[in-house]
Amino acid sequence: MAEQEHKNSGFFYKPSGVANEETRKWLPRDFDSKLITHSVKRNIDRKRTSIDHVHMVNNVPLFSWVELNLNELCNRKCAFCPRSGDYPNQNIHMDPGLAAAIALQLDELDFSGTVNISGTGEPLLTRNLLEIVKCFCDRQISIEIVTNGDKLKPALIKDLYSIGLSQLVVSMYDGPEQIDYFNNLFKECKIDKSKYTLRDRWYSEDEDFGLIYTNRTGAQKELKKAATRPCYYPHYALYIDWNGDVLLCCQDMYNRTVKFGNVAEKPIFDIWRDKRLSDFRNKLKNGQRCLSPCTNCDANGMLFGKNHAAKWQTI
Ligand SMILES: C[S@@+](CC[C@H](N)C(=O)[O-])C[C@H]1O[C@@H](n2cnc3c(N)ncnc32)[C@H](O)[C@@H]1O
Ligand code: SF4
Ligand code: SF4
Repeated sequence: MAEQEHKNSGFFYKPSGVANEETRKWLPRDFDSKLITHSVKRNIDRKRTSIDHVHMVNNVPLFSWVELNLNELCNRKCAFCPRSGDYPNQNIHMDPGLAAAIALQLDELDFSGTVNISGTGEPLLTRNLLEIVKCFCDRQISIEIVTNGDKLKPALIKDLYSIGLSQLVVSMYDGPEQIDYFNNLFKECKIDKSKYTLRDRWYSEDEDFGLIYTNRTGAQKELKKAATRPCYYPHYALYIDWNGDVLLCCQDMYNRTVKFGNVAEKPIFDIWRDKRLSDFRNKLKNGQRCLSPCTNCDANGMLFGKNHAAKWQTI
């Protein structure tokens, strides 16, 4: 059956029939009931080659995706985000010295993946943001920022790209008029379309807000029945909080249920090899979401990381 356009043209809709060949390449098993926007799909396609490339270090599959939470601040309270509830807005930030130490360690590991600045708040509100981004750019580490776009102005855009930012991913929450607005803004700054991504996220709750919507391990919504699908996040992704704590994954970034060490106190590579983290991997590769917070998580978990999971099985 051919794929059909959803009534809202931002979406493509995979009906209950068989996905076409192109979609099967990335659509994970058990994922057919979801509505996915074209921009979400394009962003997944953009990242796949880099994320799913496995670089081995001392016989261990290294993470290919490092997510940094730079601050605890946001200027919005989106309905689908735990910030719409009682999650605190706090004026705390990652220290640039800590960012430099992380960049150094990634360099020493020959890290060839991507550093993603996203996290629990709005990255463009980070104190010393340019200094932090530069730590990674100076070491030729690919780095991107996910933002709600509110603070994007020509001077900041030019500064970020001139120090070497690889990609800005803009979440558009207000409406379709933002497409022209942001395209014109980037054009004015002479930034090529390949260097930024606009994601339409102004949809209603019954369209999952245009997101691959998750319950954020209960911080957004409790799960009624535990999921039984594999999850590969801890096989390929490393999540570092503003203070250097390594968390299980970005889905647990608001609850911070488990921590595996602090990168200021212990080498990143040792934290990555921590036995407790491997216990999660061993369970999750088989769809056993029996450890907390996985018991309360509805995230897909299979969008990326299949190659890493296969490598972890061999060691
Ligand atoms: C938490 S935000 C942080 C960056 C920035 N404040 C923003 O909104 O783009 C990171 C990404 O998570 C998405 N997001 C927020 N709540 C979500 C949820 N419950 N499920 C899935 N994605 C979510 C946002 O749309 C955004 O693309
Ligand atoms: S989704 Fe982003 S912009 Fe919206 S409240 Fe959460 S952190 Fe802020
Ligand atoms: S199941 Fe959920 S909480 Fe557990 S590692 Fe995967 S994404 Fe994180």
